[in-house]
Amino acid sequence: MSKFMDWVDARFPATKMWEDHLSKYYAPKNFNFFYFFGSLALLVLVNQIVTGVWLTMSYTPSAEEAFASVEYIMRDVEYGSILRLLHSTGASAFFIVVYLHMFRGLLYGSYQKPRELVWVFGMLIYLALMAEAFMGYLLPWGQMSYWGAQVIISLFGAIPVIGNDLTQWIRGDYLISGITLNRFFALHVVALPIVILGLVVLHILALHEVGSNNPDGVDIKKHKDENGIPLDGIAFHPYYTVKDIVGVVVFLFIFCFIVFFFPEMGGYFLEKPNFEPANPFKTPEHIAPVWYFTPFYAILRAIPDKLMGVIAMGAAIAVLFVLPWLDRSPVKSMRYKGWMSKIWLLVFCISFVILGILGVLSPTPGRTLLSQVCTFLYFAYFILMPFYTRLEKTKPVPERVTG
Ligand code: HEM
Repeated sequence: MSKFMDWVDARFPATKMWEDHLSKYYAPKNFNFFYFFGSLALLVLVNQIVTGVWLTMSYTPSAEEAFASVEYIMRDVEYGSILRLLHSTGASAFFIVVYLHMFRGLLYGSYQKPRELVWVFGMLIYLALMAEAFMGYLLPWGQMSYWGAQVIISLFGAIPVIGNDLTQWIRGDYLISGITLNRFFALHVVALPIVILGLVVLHILALHEVGSNNPDGVDIKKHKDENGIPLDGIAFHPYYTVKDIVGVVVFLFIFCFIVFFFPEMGGYFLEKPNFEPANPFKTPEHIAPVWYFTPFYAILRAIPDKLMGVIAMGAAIAVLFVLPWLDRSPVKSMRYKGWMSKIWLLVFCISFVILGILGVLSPTPGRTLLSQVCTFLYFAYFILMPFYTRLEKTKPVPERVTG
């Protein structure tokens, strides 16, 4: 075996990569619950790719047959229903895991210097993931697939001058048709998965270049032993590979429970109107995007002017990209930041959740007002960040991690 590895290593850096990224990658020893979600995101990504490949074997991407082919997968293909529900539940699980993963970044300042690029690659993944989910949702060709896509694509029509041409270019037709379905299929199964995989590699390479942050936000490279190993670091393999298995087991338990017993999740993971085939002549009574888009949808609807709404929705995502440059705090972790940072993070999270709930419901004057207040608070968290992070009094950061 070792002779074989010598042969490989002379031609390909297999052992070097194993050591650099696993057995000699020293991660802080105080990772907590929130550090499970990176490896879980990888797990869900693999689940989506594997189940997606198998679904593609039986799915037909045409307006005439798409809906029926999904029914065929659910009823006749061996293990087809499990494959499909693993994939549809996996989509929601992906966003749950990624939102918690991002929240960890906010909590411990993981986006701060020197991890700005880790964050920016993460945000690009998030964008690609939203596009991937949006396009995947058209494929079952149900009522909500059709009308959800109709609402979102028509938003581009609000852009002055080029709006109409742009929507037509996206659809490839004057209305959403089999042509749109075909291109969304190609992007969903080939182009975007490649982009996401590539970005995940860049994300992890960028992280391993600078090393992981931790719940204390202290730099473990400041204190090393005589061999140059951080005193507060432990080898990723075996310590965190084994620890991550605990997260994987708990996650799979909950995930499988949902897949087997509540795959529709009361209409949140699989929306009810999507059990009806797409009908361009019948608009569903109430169109709402899937839950993971609803905070941004609520921001869109909070603003009466369509173009301004689209701009606000875009800005709500764009502002996350520049987060590393908005936070001027001398400390990273929320543990040592002042009370203003804590309150604003809380306000931001509550506003995001309320917007998410409002995005599912049909608008009333009261709800619109609430969504305007929450949109204001959402943006205030970012816009005021350079001020409150500089003004507030921080706590002294310990030299070593606190366990
Ligand atoms: C497919 C989606 C993603 C995958 C597979 C992924 C994977 C990972 C992995 C394996 C780690 C190292 C383990 C850990 O710290 O938990 C990590 C760290 C990190 N990720 Fe992601 N990630 C994804 C999306 C995102 C997104 C959307 C963001 C934010 C916009 C993000 C921001 C970060 C940050 C800041 C770190 C460093 C955390 C620290 O050191 O404290 N990631 N990611």
